[in-house]
Amino acid sequence: MTLLRSGQAYVLLVASVAALGGLLFGYDTGVISGAILFITKDFALAAREQAFTISVVLIGCIAGSAVAGTVADRIGRRLTLLVAGVVFFAGALVSAFTPNEDVLLFGRFVVGIGIGFSSVVAPLYISEVAPANVRGALVSLYQFAITVGILAAYVVDYVLAGGAQWRWMLGLAVIPSLVLIVGMLGMPESPRYLFKISRDARARDELQRIYRDPPEAAREEQSILESLRTKSQGFEAFRQPALRTALMIGITLAVLQQITGINTVIYYGPQIFQMAGISSASASILAQTFVGAVNAGMTLIAIFFVDRVGRKPLLYAGLTGMFVALAAMAYAFSQPHLSSSLGAIALVSMMVFVGCFAFSLGPIVWLLISEIFPLRVRGLGMSLSTLSNWVGNFFVSQFFLTMVARLGHSATFGIYAVLCIVTMLFVRAMVPETKQELLEQIRVSAA
Ligand code: BGC
Repeated sequence: MTLLRSGQAYVLLVASVAALGGLLFGYDTGVISGAILFITKDFALAAREQAFTISVVLIGCIAGSAVAGTVADRIGRRLTLLVAGVVFFAGALVSAFTPNEDVLLFGRFVVGIGIGFSSVVAPLYISEVAPANVRGALVSLYQFAITVGILAAYVVDYVLAGGAQWRWMLGLAVIPSLVLIVGMLGMPESPRYLFKISRDARARDELQRIYRDPPEAAREEQSILESLRTKSQGFEAFRQPALRTALMIGITLAVLQQITGINTVIYYGPQIFQMAGISSASASILAQTFVGAVNAGMTLIAIFFVDRVGRKPLLYAGLTGMFVALAAMAYAFSQPHLSSSLGAIALVSMMVFVGCFAFSLGPIVWLLISEIFPLRVRGLGMSLSTLSNWVGNFFVSQFFLTMVARLGHSATFGIYAVLCIVTMLFVRAMVPETKQELLEQIRVSAA
């Protein structure tokens, strides 16, 4: 693997510690699906309270991601990730020891802020410490950590369900939070951020540690300093046509990642399997665990290929597979005579759908939004894009069941299928290929 060949164990370590932010993102969004059954019972929740207990975390994510970029520009990438770790830790403890529903809602909101922070800053930090030739693999590692977190949550829920131990389900997140905190204490600041705040000597040292090759480090330094020469910062900067286009691409990609429907499967998988006729609850939870494993396993494809094949080819391949799987679901749900094989078709289609997302739209959206903004507005651009991702997530997960009830299964999956085509056209028309480019040399041309 290129990573090992180039001997960059150091950047691999830095990226792996930061990727723990992704692991917590995945775990904390996934864990509630199993825990909610028992919380509902213990606190005698009505349907609306139950729905809010699930979605309050997303409101925290929206709030956290809205401010994370500005915080990361003020106090640095490293410290922001450290703060995210502390927030995750506190949120998990409050949720686990809550005496009542209100405190639980508060705890889950706090957890959401942690997710919002890390979803902006972890990919940002990783892309800023990564050398160009392995940047795609290292940011994909972050997505891999998200998927492992989701899978771990499914398994923990499954194992602890017997004893109805929802407090443990929510509380176990303290372990990766602590590792993130301790790990980040030993991690360096991003050299790009150091140049941005004029700590040039430290930044240079850091670049040497990353590249181990003086001419390459010097080339990188040159391009970073050049990109910092333009003065305009903050919202003002987005008046420039090229930056406006970059922001439009970032926000649109982030929203498309959500409105093509991934979280209907990640959050509602067991319900979808039951709709398709897999009637036993434990069989559908088991099926969901398979989906989680496929999600994690297929992300490895992105790690291996994203820097060789490029971002756009992987996106086309993945989106085609997602389209086919969703179209199959739409067709199967519309055919009454398929009802006996519907369960099997749903299972296979869901696996294909999630598997194709896992090596394309999943990692590559995070990667692209960490690449397309110049350094002086990177924090803000990523914040705005990530915020849009969470708003899209909130709407899809809020309205999925309503859509199924109002429009029917077939039309719902059909809409997601059409949105995959829209995404493909958008990628073709607007998205630059960023493979192997130095971060500062990536340019988006004005639309
Ligand atoms: C998305 C999440 C999703 C996860 C599934 C991430 O890239 O942003 O919304 O739950 O992938 O693996």
